[in-house]
Formats: sequence, C-alpha cells, structure tokens
Amino acid sequence: MKNPNALIVASEVYLSGIGSLLNNIARNSLTNIKIFDEDVRELLLSLPNKIFDEIYIICPDPWPKARHHKRRLIKLDFLKILVKVLKRDGTVYISTDWENYAESIEEELKKIKNKFSFIQISNEGMPITRFQQRAINEGRSIHTFLLKILEK
Ligand SMILES: C[S@@+](CC[C@H](N)C(=O)[O-])C[C@H]1O[C@@H](n2cnc3c(N)ncnc32)[C@H](O)[C@@H]1O
Repeated sequence: MKNPNALIVASEVYLSGIGSLLNNIARNSLTNIKIFDEDVRELLLSLPNKIFDEIYIICPDPWPKARHHKRRLIKLDFLKILVKVLKRDGTVYISTDWENYAESIEEELKKIKNKFSFIQISNEGMPITRFQQRAINEGRSIHTFLLKILEK
C-alpha cells in the first residue's frame, strides 16, 4: 500500500472494471478505497467544495470518432467542476491515448487558463493501466496533462 493515509475515491461505471478493482482491493487487503459506480459528475457535484488534493483521469473515453466528440468528458463545464472540488494547490492528471483527444483537451484547458496552469508531461514512472498498455502495444502514445490549480 503506497498511500495508506490517503482516502482514495475511484469512479467507474463499467462493471467488469469495478470487478477487477474489487479483486485487487481484496488481494492487497486495502481499506482506504471507496468506489462510486455512476457518472463521476454526479459525485463531484454532490461533494463539498475543496475536498480533493489530487485527481487522476485516465483515458476517460475511448471514442476517436468525430460523432462522439460531443460526449467527451473533458470539456469546459467538467473542468469547472474540478475547480470546485480541488483544494488549494490541488493537481489533476489527465491522460488519453488519442492524439485528437489530447488536442481537444488542450483547447478546453485554454478556455480556463485563469483557473489552471497546465503542461504536458511524460508518463514515465507512472503506473500504466491495462487499457493504456494496449494502446502502447498498438503503437499509440499516452498524452498526459498535469494541471495545477491557480490561487483559490
Ligand atoms: C477507455 S476506458 C479506460 C478505463 C481505465 N481508466 C483504464 O485506463 O484502464 C474509459 C472508462 O471511462 C469510464 N467513464 C467515462 N466517462 C465516465 C463518467 N462520466 N463517470 C465514470 N466513468 C466514466 C468508462 O466507463 C470507461 O470504462
């Protein structure tokens, strides 16, 4: 257990993903992880302000097709919700394995640059999910953004 004193909230709606997380939790006897199994936006909107130190959003949606772009999670409205729930000095990591999603994330981040500073970082040293590994095996790279909340 790398962060025994942190309370970790995991959000996923895909049942098989939740099942595999539950297996890992049991195998490692972890007691500090809570799982929310519906739309993460509902959770974040219902929580008090300034509650998270760090938020990790790992490959939020897989769809590269143009007709799916409207459904993407990382949009201005969602970024505003992140501002609400982050503590002062809070950070967000957002990764995607699709180049055109990375471009769209950058565009959305520019719309809220008064609230976040952001840079693209290397994924080296960070844990890689099975999904990310599959993208790497297929020859795609992982684009990761590190956001830091500006003065609150
Ligand atoms: C491409 S998969 C990646 C899964 C996992 N993060 C990984 O890297 O292995 C994207 C996942 O994001 C989840 N997801 C997308 N939008 C979500 C939302 N609004 N709330 C909760 N989960 C969401 C989907 O259920 C899907 O399983």
